[in-house]
Amino acid sequence: MKALGIGLIGTGYMGKCHALAWNNVSTVFGDVDRPRLVHLAEANGELAVARAKEFGFAKATANWRDLLADPEVDVISVTTPNQFHAEMAIAALEAGKHVWCEKPMATDLGDAERMLAAQRASGKVAVMGYNYIQNPVMRHIRSLIDEGAIGTVNHVRIEMDEDFMADPQTLFYWKSEASSGYGALDDFAVHPLSLLWSLFGHVEAVIASLAKPYADRPTKDGGRRAVENHDIASVLMRLSGGISGVLMANRSAWGRKGRIALQIYGSTGSILYDQERMNEFQLYTTDGRATEQGFSTILTAPHHKPYDRFIPAPGHGLGFNDLKVIECRELMAAIAGKPSHAIDFVDGLRIEKSVHAMARSHREERWVEVDAG
Ligand SMILES: NC(=O)c1ccc[n+]([C@@H]2O[C@H](COP(=O)([O-])OP(=O)(O)OC[C@H]3O[C@@H](n4cnc5c(N)ncnc54)[C@H](O)[C@@H]3O)[C@@H](O)[C@H]2O)c1
Repeated sequence: MKALGIGLIGTGYMGKCHALAWNNVSTVFGDVDRPRLVHLAEANGELAVARAKEFGFAKATANWRDLLADPEVDVISVTTPNQFHAEMAIAALEAGKHVWCEKPMATDLGDAERMLAAQRASGKVAVMGYNYIQNPVMRHIRSLIDEGAIGTVNHVRIEMDEDFMADPQTLFYWKSEASSGYGALDDFAVHPLSLLWSLFGHVEAVIASLAKPYADRPTKDGGRRAVENHDIASVLMRLSGGISGVLMANRSAWGRKGRIALQIYGSTGSILYDQERMNEFQLYTTDGRATEQGFSTILTAPHHKPYDRFIPAPGHGLGFNDLKVIECRELMAAIAGKPSHAIDFVDGLRIEKSVHAMARSHREERWVEVDAG
């Protein structure tokens, strides 16, 4: 069978991350055919040509719809700003392409539902860019929980913080537009939710409060423009199995660079993890003598799969872009009809429903049940 032909829309931060993954997935895993980098789209034609050369794609275009008509393209990576995801993913599926779409699914719940309907009608594979669930640490934490290493989990706290919008002088750009979504919720909270989803399943109910640290921001032309969404979210949650949860997200948290801090408390122990130290986690169990009980720090090593595919030596560490390579391998497994640990549009929609329930809870100042459908 011919190797998968790849199309890429968008060549910014995430576009490059996807390109790195498509370039490296075969080298890292060795059990998938090297994808063919066929066609890349950027909003600006000159930039598209330059990026195609840098990323190793054969063709470049300023019109993303050219990828739909290209018979050599089998899969399309959608890495454009949030408001374009629905239109591009639906068009790609309708054109018979598999889709790898960056988070969030869409800024509107109806659009996310239409994306899932398009996937179902096409019979093609569609997965979301929820790379953090692919960390070998996270997979190991999941197996520890499943085997009861910390007993019955009763409380979870998760925080996602960065400081790229902490400076009030940062220019207004698409992330502050209402058309990009609710702000911290669909920019950030979806990531912690993807972790909660893969560890514990459904979020049943939420009560949320959103906040805006700066009412307006400077614009390129020297004016000011009102900020249209919220940079901070504070949420209490009821998770399945009676677990109580707390989720905090802040895009304006000075000093935080890539924090996704997870605390899991169970009846016989606790697990701590922070994405800023993504190659380790901490485990406390009540095994053994009380006099020596304490958190132990465990570094990732080849036995934390699939770390071994990257590096044979323990404790040397994976990076952010490596998680995308693992996600790419999971997407290729799904396309090959094999079991896959990627978040598809079915579970992606459940994450979106949690986010929209949080926004509604903030508006209506009350607990909101999350539709489990
Ligand atoms: N999974 C993650 O960890 C992660 C991290 C950051 C961003 N994201 C998501 O990735 C998406 C992109 O974010 P980013 O930070 O890469 O943004 P970015 O601004 O760096 O890149 C977006 C690119 O899309 C291009 N683009 C816009 N409209 C286009 C069009 N019509 N046709 C072709 N290209 C077009 C832009 O020119 C730009 O190069 C967002 O949805 C964001 O939420 C995910």
